[in-house]
Amino acid sequence: MKRSEINNILRSADAFIRSRGFHLPPFAYWSPDDWAGKGPEVREIVEHMLGWDITDFGKGDFTQTGLFLFTVRNGSPKALRTGKGKPYAEKIMIVDENQLTPMHFHWSKTEDIINRGGGRLAIQVYNATPTEDLDHDNPVTLSVDGVERVLPAGGTLYLHPGESVTLSPYNYHSFWAVGERTLVGEVSVVNDDTRDNRFLEPLGRFPAIEEDEEPLYPLCNEYRKYWQHGAP
Ligand SMILES: [Fe+2]
Repeated sequence: MKRSEINNILRSADAFIRSRGFHLPPFAYWSPDDWAGKGPEVREIVEHMLGWDITDFGKGDFTQTGLFLFTVRNGSPKALRTGKGKPYAEKIMIVDENQLTPMHFHWSKTEDIINRGGGRLAIQVYNATPTEDLDHDNPVTLSVDGVERVLPAGGTLYLHPGESVTLSPYNYHSFWAVGERTLVGEVSVVNDDTRDNRFLEPLGRFPAIEEDEEPLYPLCNEYRKYWQHGAP
């Protein structure tokens, strides 16, 4: 992706999130120069990969296949193991009409996906087979706001604003918005996007970036270009 495209997506996302009455934390607006002046006190943001996250899943067409995310909070795998610290995570995401997040599951993350306003969020679901393919035979049982729902393999669940679904490890899911741009929340256990995404089709998670202008804000995997504290 070009940096100019990333910057445009950041500006548009920021405006949309504000228009929905959601507000991002201060570190969202730290420039590369701000990051260069920060000390070791911001280590949690860097190491837990909080902040802006834009992906085209390596397909080169963000409008068709892509996702905007901002990680508001995230703990560490150690917290999950020991029960001390933050064993949880929260993201805010924007899904455009018919913009696809491709079929994937998580080996360890259980996540609630929440429609926080806009259009409807369509989520197609399958169970994973023991060989991690799509299970075309068995229905998928999910909790939709505390109510058990059983969908056929490959069935699509439509979440209206305010509705949410719990997706467990090995629940394959893909999603897109219907009707209009949709603000989507994610509340989950600790999130590790470098290791815990199993895409059905091999895909990239963090985009290669062509630098055609200065970054407005660093993405969550770019802080160490500017922040000079601590070993990688
Ligand atoms: Fe997911």
